[in-house]
Amino acid sequence: MMARLVLVGFMGAGKTTVGQLLAQNTGFRFTDLDQAIVEIAGRPIPDIFAAEGEAGFRRRETEALAQALDQDVIVSTGGGIVTQAQNRALLKAAGAPVVYLKADPEVLYQRVYQDENRPIANSLDLSGFTALAAERELFYHEVSDLVLTTANLSPLEVMGGILDEI
Ligand code: S3P
Repeated sequence: MMARLVLVGFMGAGKTTVGQLLAQNTGFRFTDLDQAIVEIAGRPIPDIFAAEGEAGFRRRETEALAQALDQDVIVSTGGGIVTQAQNRALLKAAGAPVVYLKADPEVLYQRVYQDENRPIANSLDLSGFTALAAERELFYHEVSDLVLTTANLSPLEVMGGILDEI
């Protein structure tokens, strides 16, 4: 068994929203990795970061990724999934199309910086956020089969763009 499709991209790119829409429209089940991590940990992401550090969160994330990739589901990932070489290897070996939802960091920053559920976004100013996006850019490309620029597109249009291409 393997995953149907995996969404990657920076914080706020719409991975969860588009993943849910794709699942609704295709009938496949949907797994959001952040949500799976929160359920297993029994506490919200900021609490995991506070209690276990980012390293603890990343360990949980790799486990959740490996599990999800083994199931017949559409997967949305957290923006930092590509920071771990092990995760990049898992994504490249997944056999499912990996779609990179790409958007302008300035737009993404406005969406997420005040979201108290996103400890990394909260801790950065716009230039730090943009620098982190730039650092990860190469990795998103490395793991993805399709890059979709989401600027000005609604989640439904992004979904349509994905279904047209795969
Ligand atoms: C993170 C992104 C978050 C979440 C965690 C770390 C990151 O997911 O996994 O807060 O390092 O970019 P979103 O991409 O859904 O914000």
